[in-house]
Amino acid sequence: MFHLFRIRMEDRIREGDADLRYRPFGKTGLSVSALGFGCMRLPTTDGLPGSPNIDEAAATAMLRRAIDGGLNYIDTAYTYHGEMSEPFLSRALSRGYRERVMLATKNPVWMVKERADFRRFLEEQLRRLATDRLDVYMFHGLNRRRWEEVLRLGLLEEAERAVREGLVRHLGFSFHDRLASFRRIVDDYDGWTVALIQYNYMDVENQAGTEGLRHAARKGLAVAVMEPLLGGCLASPPPEIRGLFEDLGVRRAPADLALQWLWGQPEVSVVLSGMSDLRQVEENLASADRAGRDPLSPAEEELIRRVRETLEARREVPCTNCGYCLPCPSGVNIPGLFDLVNYAAMYDGLRSSRLRYRRFFPGDERADRCCGCGECETRCPQSISISEWMPRVHDMLTGEEDPGSG
Ligand SMILES: NC(=O)c1ccc[n+]([C@@H]2O[C@H](COP(=O)([O-])OP(=O)(O)OC[C@H]3O[C@@H](n4cnc5c(N)ncnc54)[C@H](OP(=O)(O)O)[C@@H]3O)[C@@H](O)[C@H]2O)c1
Repeated sequence: MFHLFRIRMEDRIREGDADLRYRPFGKTGLSVSALGFGCMRLPTTDGLPGSPNIDEAAATAMLRRAIDGGLNYIDTAYTYHGEMSEPFLSRALSRGYRERVMLATKNPVWMVKERADFRRFLEEQLRRLATDRLDVYMFHGLNRRRWEEVLRLGLLEEAERAVREGLVRHLGFSFHDRLASFRRIVDDYDGWTVALIQYNYMDVENQAGTEGLRHAARKGLAVAVMEPLLGGCLASPPPEIRGLFEDLGVRRAPADLALQWLWGQPEVSVVLSGMSDLRQVEENLASADRAGRDPLSPAEEELIRRVRETLEARREVPCTNCGYCLPCPSGVNIPGLFDLVNYAAMYDGLRSSRLRYRRFFPGDERADRCCGCGECETRCPQSISISEWMPRVHDMLTGEEDPGSG
């Protein structure tokens, strides 16, 4: 399937088709803009990332400029901006903007305790978004555990009912876990239209990775990409990385480099960018205008290879995310925690790791739940002293905010 798509894309370039800014949305026959708008990092009046105090005037201007510039896919979720992202969108997408976009939001699976909750959230979200239909409804943040819960509670049946009733057009899921879980979720259910994965040139072997991307595309799913700039790290890299750009004479902006790398892959459908000011909107729209027709030069390919090598060498813990340490008898998400430690070291990103720890790690997955039993250490191929690390990890990730870092 993606082989055919590759040929089609090459034909389109040969024939001078001007609109490579739009890409097939899986097997739906729909076209989606190469650039989508992620509504998780909107500007805020208090300057705090993700806070409920969205700067509505600035964010509305950004969103409408993006749509006027050709963008037609908006991604949000029940929980973004302290549950204020959806109500904000209802206002920002008034005056005819709603009809010009595919609107995607996500069911907060971890808040669903019984089957009826799924429908309750959906109806609340339709009201919050002031719309009578969602173009895409996703199960938010699936991993192996949450997928089993979705199956156990019969939530797919509820989701299918919503499709039959016309409340939802397409079903999908966003994903944070290892490749094996991704394959399982894709293969277990034939009703998916779209998968949303974390993917960028540093994550080719992390989470779903390139293998997961291709697997989903082969099965006819549209693949949407989140964290294309690793939450901004690839757009504002540490000085050591900036030096590599100069060494190799690469003038392209780091953000554009990361985006064009993604659009060079035909299996990628829409790249969601969490833009946080109007300048970023303009820059990323300009990048999207060149999507698929501005391939990386050999020097830029070499740069990416060297960036990977340099950043990998900055890892603090030699965890490869193999998951052999799991399940932890206390429920600690060991590879996820080491990811945060390494992210802080690789990208000077301590502040962002602390934010992620607060936002995405429920109490029972945190480092302070480690009881020191050492069961994980007997299974770790890298011989990491996990139980010694855990108290340090917790201290590091719960320390005082350091505005200077990450
Ligand atoms: N379902 C999930 O579990 C999940 C998880 C994560 C994301 N998502 C979705 O995916 C979307 C995209 O992910 P993301 O927000 O992490 O995207 P991202 O593009 O990796 O990061 C966004 C950040 O990159 C920086 N940036 C963007 N364009 C730039 C440019 N031209 N020049 C310089 N810096 C630029 C900004 O950072 P600064 O503000 O620091 O300048 C911005 O806040 C989210 O908004 C959300 O809708 C979903």
